Amino acid sequence: LRGGGSSGAGLTFKAIPPNTLDAVIVPNGYEEQVLIRWGEPILPGMPAFDIDRQSPAAQAGQFGYNNDFLTVVPLDRGFTRGLLVVNHEYTNEELMFRGYKDGATATVRQMQIALAAHGMSVVEVERVERTGEWRVVTRGRRHYNRRLTGSTPMKFTGPAAGSPLLRTAADPRGVQVLGSLNNCSGGLTPWGTVLSGEENFNQYFVGGDGAPADAKPALARYGINTSTRYPSGSRYWDKMDARFDLAKNPHEANRFGWIMEVDPYDPHSTPVKHTALGRFKHEGAAVAVAKTGQAVAYMGDDERFDYMYKFVSDRKLRNGNSKADRESNRRLLESGSLYVAKLGFTSPGEIDGSGKLPNDGAFNGTGTWIPLTKGGKSMVAGMAIDEVLVHTRLAADKAGATKMDRPEDIEVSKKTGKVYVALTNNSRRGASGQPAADEANPRNSNKHGQILEIVEDGENHASETFTWSLPIVCGDPSDPSTYFAGYDKTKVSPMSCPDNLDFDAHGNLWISTDGNALVDHTGENFNDGLFAVAVEGPERGKAKQFLSVPRGAEQASAYVVPDNKSVVVSVQHPGEISGASVDNPASTWPDGDFARPAVVVTWRPDGGEIGA
Ligand code: FEO
Ligand code: CA
Ligand code: CA
Ligand code: CA
Repeated sequence: LRGGGSSGAGLTFKAIPPNTLDAVIVPNGYEEQVLIRWGEPILPGMPAFDIDRQSPAAQAGQFGYNNDFLTVVPLDRGFTRGLLVVNHEYTNEELMFRGYKDGATATVRQMQIALAAHGMSVVEVERVERTGEWRVVTRGRRHYNRRLTGSTPMKFTGPAAGSPLLRTAADPRGVQVLGSLNNCSGGLTPWGTVLSGEENFNQYFVGGDGAPADAKPALARYGINTSTRYPSGSRYWDKMDARFDLAKNPHEANRFGWIMEVDPYDPHSTPVKHTALGRFKHEGAAVAVAKTGQAVAYMGDDERFDYMYKFVSDRKLRNGNSKADRESNRRLLESGSLYVAKLGFTSPGEIDGSGKLPNDGAFNGTGTWIPLTKGGKSMVAGMAIDEVLVHTRLAADKAGATKMDRPEDIEVSKKTGKVYVALTNNSRRGASGQPAADEANPRNSNKHGQILEIVEDGENHASETFTWSLPIVCGDPSDPSTYFAGYDKTKVSPMSCPDNLDFDAHGNLWISTDGNALVDHTGENFNDGLFAVAVEGPERGKAKQFLSVPRGAEQASAYVVPDNKSVVVSVQHPGEISGASVDNPASTWPDGDFARPAVVVTWRPDGGEIGA
């Protein structure tokens, strides 16, 4: 494999202990500071945030809610200025509006504010001299700043653009859609754009009971309730806009669940949704360049028993930076082959659901990428190409793909070319009528999740075959069902529910968690956190907790700035605990009054490297 990796290089910091504090905790010798919070104005002329004076127009120019995936793209060679690009996945209305009860009693204005709080923010940031501290640029032109919301016009590309399945009364040609929703994870492309996955889009739609009978099976496969008009937890957005009513607009749901691509450097560019990459509950997309020069996007479908996918572009990446090169690269994701993963096992008879390591000492095997589309054609019998791309889950079911424990983020190591998948948990694994444990998903009622590592055959990301193994089976290291690549388990941090992944400059894997199922002696769940894990060399499996987030929050995403001097982290839904509200908060982070999702930067005031 390319280059080889480190052996835990740089991971010398003292791990923080699991805790339940209402604060962001970092190791000794590190500083942390909020970079930007929900509601802070990012476009010129927008008002300062006031929880009692919100408006849809203000929210469309302010930092959105529930920041998830984030990255920073450079604005200069020294990386002293950059653009913070952040997804806003969903809204917690009960933590946004005083006195909020439920969707049925919400006002249309509250719905409009919530819709405007979705999408993405692009915010110019600058580095504070010599350290890894960053701050938001508040003076000057802020030329690049941008908000995408749930109503920003976007275009479809690829083989399913214009398909009858994407046509609605408002868009009879099926080529343009308003907004992106539930933007969870994402990725930076080698050509400088940002990808963003539309994940749990099903939650915004109502009226599934009134959808045409022939549309119901596919709607149901995507988690839409087809027997009740307003399932519990509905936002009632049909009262704001009839497009969210599937009884009136059954195709509108087909227009979400895609990978969106945005050029962060051009605030006037039109975001696109790439149909060639298929439609499912897209966690994110990680792009690598194959030996053959094609762009390859790895993607997870985050649902219990759903699948891992990859897309291989037809055309090759152009390395130049001319206008023609840039325009060509921007169209790479418009045509290619879509594959789904099927795994083979080396120790199939030995898996009993307990997590016990097989006799060959490894959870491992081979794998095949099964083509669902190729050369612009469907590879699935009985389905046309637009059906495969719009109803990708149904196509992958037919192809016999391997049912996984909720594939979340996937990332590719630049050091080794190995591909890592966060399989977060699966409470239903082994339940009655559900698939039993297998070698890649080795525990029934899987509470804590595992990390899967893929090595493509021939070191080629475009390969149709691969080998895989599980380097980490998460949980408390004293639990015999956990595995930390054979590393001394007395020296690792407890870790549960891996979600987002990133790498530092040494090739160590940084894992963000969502839904930590480990508890303290009183039975209270420990907070989520950020962990650094060596994945190469003699220290492979050494996992250390670097940061923890406040009560009720998810450590949604981390970005290690390439010079290894800063980690920017996304603190999502602080205070999201049943029964909590603005006036009865379960968290008062970050300002001591009510909870606000925010982006935090952590760095060493001595200017040293993160993790060292
Ligand atoms: Fe939005 Fe699968 O995490
Ligand atoms: Ca094995
Ligand atoms: Ca996630
Ligand atoms: Ca998650």
